[in-house]
Amino acid sequence: MTDPVAAWHAEHAYFIQLLRLLQKQADVFHAGERPNYELMLDIIAYLREYSDRFHHPREDVAFARLAQRCPEMELPLERLRQEHRVIAHAGETLKDLLIAVLGEAVVPRAQVEASAATYLVYYGNHIAREEEDVLTRAARVLTPEDWEAVRTAVPPVHDPLFGDHPEERYRELRRQIALET
Ligand SMILES: [Fe+2]
Ligand SMILES: [Fe+2]
Repeated sequence: MTDPVAAWHAEHAYFIQLLRLLQKQADVFHAGERPNYELMLDIIAYLREYSDRFHHPREDVAFARLAQRCPEMELPLERLRQEHRVIAHAGETLKDLLIAVLGEAVVPRAQVEASAATYLVYYGNHIAREEEDVLTRAARVLTPEDWEAVRTAVPPVHDPLFGDHPEERYRELRRQIALET
């Protein structure tokens, strides 16, 4: 079986890659040019579909287990858990704004910029904090039984973008990722 912490870290690396791609498009928008809106929407769709529904619920269980074993971490872990809700909400807001822009609705540029920046900074900091404060600690104190609870927190699912059998609708996003690496 794969090392759960290594798998956890690998997913963060994937998400960081996507946030970097999204940042590039946000920079294009900021420069007054037309970004690749479809690509931006693909990135958010994946993060909403996979991270918000599978990565975060597993983390919520890991955090709860960790808080039981390290009570001094309870508050920061609770904050991270709350951030999962904020991230989902911020992603949805950005998605709606981008769809509105694509549909040629009048959306103030500053609103799109603020929404993209909020999502990018918030998400980036969230992952950085988990990497710095949580993963090593979890590797040290969580038991096999804890990891089993994490693993079964949500039904097993294949990653539609980075998994062995990526879905066709993410073909363009995969191409862009390959160009970056
Ligand atoms: Fe998280
Ligand atoms: Fe995470």
